[in-house]
Amino acid sequence: MLPQALLARLSLAKHVVALTGAGISAESGVPTFRDAQSGLWARYKAEELATPEAFLQNPRLVWNWYAWRRSLTQKAAPNAGHLALVRLQELVPNLTLITQNVDGLHTRAGSRDVLELHGNIETTLCFDEGTRVPAGEYTDDGREPPRCPRCGGLLRPGVVWFGESLPQATLERAERAAATCDALLSIGTSSLVHPAASLPVSAKANRRGALLIEVNPSPTPLTPLVDAALTGRAGDLLPQLVQQLEAIRG
Ligand code: OAD
Repeated sequence: MLPQALLARLSLAKHVVALTGAGISAESGVPTFRDAQSGLWARYKAEELATPEAFLQNPRLVWNWYAWRRSLTQKAAPNAGHLALVRLQELVPNLTLITQNVDGLHTRAGSRDVLELHGNIETTLCFDEGTRVPAGEYTDDGREPPRCPRCGGLLRPGVVWFGESLPQATLERAERAAATCDALLSIGTSSLVHPAASLPVSAKANRRGALLIEVNPSPTPLTPLVDAALTGRAGDLLPQLVQQLEAIRG
């Protein structure tokens, strides 16, 4: 677990950032992004499907891939890792929770004001207009993908695809949090995809010299930079970290 000196620093942190990736949802049964895909989708790589080009080339395939992933996330329940971050939000003066995940599990666990850098799989957009189309507003007439009720264009999942820009306001809030926090926990992410992967680096370099902690069973490109690499599963390590904080706070 966290060495006493680092635990003391974390317990004094006024503003903590938690950055999460697919690894925190792995124990909820949601495959990570870089896990091999299973079943029908085994022959595709996620990176090949999560692009605007793939969607335009085969809208039905990409739409159905997200329908499959939605069926997994809707069946999934938040795990002890998600719940530990809900408790952490109560323990620290200010917690900014930033996630790359689109599964909505942090919000379902009870976390508030989650910054969803890559969107949310439960939302739907018009591909041509880029605007949200609430579930009740389009008829599921069996066409895959369904069509926009306003312009007749193809509907798409409200997630960020490779090569697309992130929601600007959300990204700015995330970057501001990293630039001003006292501690950043990088949890369950391979730290490969930018701009999310640059947030821990910016925290480490910020004026407060933020404490940088990684929670992951495996090393990542960020590991050499962190103050503490907690090796293991988020569902085991985050509850232990929260218990340590509760003990020190008495
Ligand atoms: P990845 O699949 O790239 O990485 C998952 C990370 O979680 C790996 O480092 C695993 O070692 C780790 N992991 C696995 N099980 C874990 C557990 N129980 N507890 C803690 N860590 C565990 O997923 P991301 O890093 O989230 O973006 O991928 C980032 C982005 O890449 C995704 O959001 C997606 C993709 O491009 C877009 O779709 C735009």
